Order: sequence, then structure tokens, then C-alpha cells
Amino acid sequence: MILALETSCDETCAAVMAPDGTLRASVVASQSAEHVAFGGVVPEIAARRHLELLDPTVRAALRDAGLSLDDVTRVAVTAGPGLIGALLVGVGYAKGLAWGRGLPLVAVDHLHGHVASLQLAPEPPVGPHLVLLASGGHTLLLDVDGPRIRTLARSMDDAAGEAFDKGARLLGLGYPGGPALAALAAQGDPEAHPLTTPLAGRDDLAFSFSGLKTALAMAVAAEAASPSDLAAAYQEAIVRHLVERAALGLAATGRDTLGLVGGVAANERLRAALPGLPARVVAAPLALCGDNAAMIARAALDLEPLAPAALLALDAHARSPLG
Ligand code: KG4
Ligand code: ZN
Repeated sequence: MILALETSCDETCAAVMAPDGTLRASVVASQSAEHVAFGGVVPEIAARRHLELLDPTVRAALRDAGLSLDDVTRVAVTAGPGLIGALLVGVGYAKGLAWGRGLPLVAVDHLHGHVASLQLAPEPPVGPHLVLLASGGHTLLLDVDGPRIRTLARSMDDAAGEAFDKGARLLGLGYPGGPALAALAAQGDPEAHPLTTPLAGRDDLAFSFSGLKTALAMAVAAEAASPSDLAAAYQEAIVRHLVERAALGLAATGRDTLGLVGGVAANERLRAALPGLPARVVAAPLALCGDNAAMIARAALDLEPLAPAALLALDAHARSPLG
């Protein structure tokens, strides 16, 4: 049994997976209530809460799976990218557990984890595929061919989830902003005061969200439309931009399958818009779009554990070669 841990941001996560990929338990202890007052994640608070929550979260996952620590044969942990203090809590715990019990340890890249969440969909992609990864920290187009993952496009400025969070703040909504902005947008008319799609008409394989955010800030200040109409226009422009870049990526690579992963993959408008693309679209299961340890366990299934000598030397890293 694989025990996987994920502590890269503000969710303390543990999951248990059988070697054949069957998910036995996945527990996500969200800390978002602790960060609400600050309008975003406070790294020191996140690290301290991980320290308090990780052990009970691991115990809860084992209990849900009907197993004990004695059944764990392999440990997996997110080693980066993310908040360094938060990552260190998970990495330290995993190293101690693996070393103390003589278990193999697998270090997983968080972005690889999001990509692997597709393998937990009812009908996973088969063969090489393109992945649109849209989260709070990254917006990427990834070309996935077995274990080989190549970055085709990244954001020149903000990430898509960050754009949702900053837009929500401009509209006076709480944190995390994505679901709140989407809920407000559902009551609005996206055509009342449309906002321009970023990089429209250009064929750059890149994303950009900061100009759109400025356009929203100006529209809010000018009271150009109601908050719900502005939320709808803003969400629509983000979705159009993501869909356009995904279409460019499909054309550039000739891939016939597109995966959608990351926190923003939970967005209903985005999930509804992607099937218009000339590809089979596979979205990560809703429960596995946001950060979780099930995706880390699934990624670890296809990775080699660290050599015993490298186990104690494992360190967390804030950035990923994929990002
Ligand atoms: O993947 P994730 O949980 O964490 C990172 O690795 O960053 O993504 C979190 C992001 C946040 O920015 C959040 O606002 C956004 O995903 N998000 C959404 C929705 N649910 C979460 N954005 C748009 N619509 C949603 N329904
Ligand atoms: Zn994530």
C-alpha cells in the first residue's frame, strides 16, 4: 500500500492507494478558514497548521482505508513546487516515516501529480495527450507521453487561479476566489460589458492574465456594469483564453486527447466550453481538481523510489522544472 502526503500549499492531504491504482482513502484537511482574514495564504500560518494537521490526517486516511501503518509498503510525498515551509513539513514527515520503518520513499513533483489525476478519471487518456493545467500557482500546456512531460506553454504573468482570486478580491468576494467568482458570474450576463480575451488573434503558445485583471479593475472603478455582469465577463474572458491556447496546442502537436487538471479545472464554464475543441476531452474528477494526495499516490505508482542514500538528503524545492 502506498501512503501519499501533500502539503505544498494550504491543504493538508493524505491518501492510501493499492499497488494496482485502486484508491482506498483520500483525506483533505483544508486550512482556508485560517487564511480568509488575510485574503490569501499566509506561508508561515500554512506551515504551522500542516505541522498540527498532518499526523491526524494520515491517521484518518489509514482509518478510512481500514488499514494501519503496518500495511504501508511505500511512502510518497510532494517535494515541490510550492510554499517551501509548507513543503518541508510533508517532506520531513515522509523522510522520518520511511527511514524509521525502512520503507521506500518516492518524491513527487506536484505538477506531475495534477497530470496523474487524469488516470483516476472514469475513462483516463490512453497514449500521448496534451494537458491544460490551470491552478492557483500555474497555467501550463503540457505534452505528456508516458513518463516524459514537456512544457509547451506557461503564463507570462499571473496563473489562471490567481486571476480568479485577484478578480474576486476586486469584486469584494472572499478567498478562495474561484468558486465565489464563478457563483456570482452565474447570475450575470457576460455580454453586458464584455472584456477582451488576452492575446486574442495572436498565436503565441503562452498565457497572460494581468492585462485582463487591470481591465476588470478599471471596469469596477468606473462601475461599468453590475458586479455579477463583470464577474461573468471576466470568467468568460479567462475561459476563452484557456480554450484558445488549448486549441493552439492541439494544432501544434497533433494530439487527439486533451486533459484538464488543477483547481481551475473545477470551473463549470471551463468544463462546458472545452468539449467544443477537436479532441477527446478528459477532465480530472471534481474531487481531485484541487490539491489532494490521491494524485500524488497515482504519480508515485509510475516512479522509482529514492535510493536509500538519497532518502535522507531529500529536500523540498519551491520551483519545478515543468513550471
Ligand atoms: O490546484 P489548486 O488547488 O492549488 C494549486 O496548486 O495552486 O488550485 C487552486 C486554485 C485557486 O486559485 C482557486 O481559486 C481556483 O483553483 N479554483 C477555481 C474554482 N475552484 C478552485 N477557479 C475557478 N472556478 C472554480 N470553480
Ligand atoms: Zn495544485
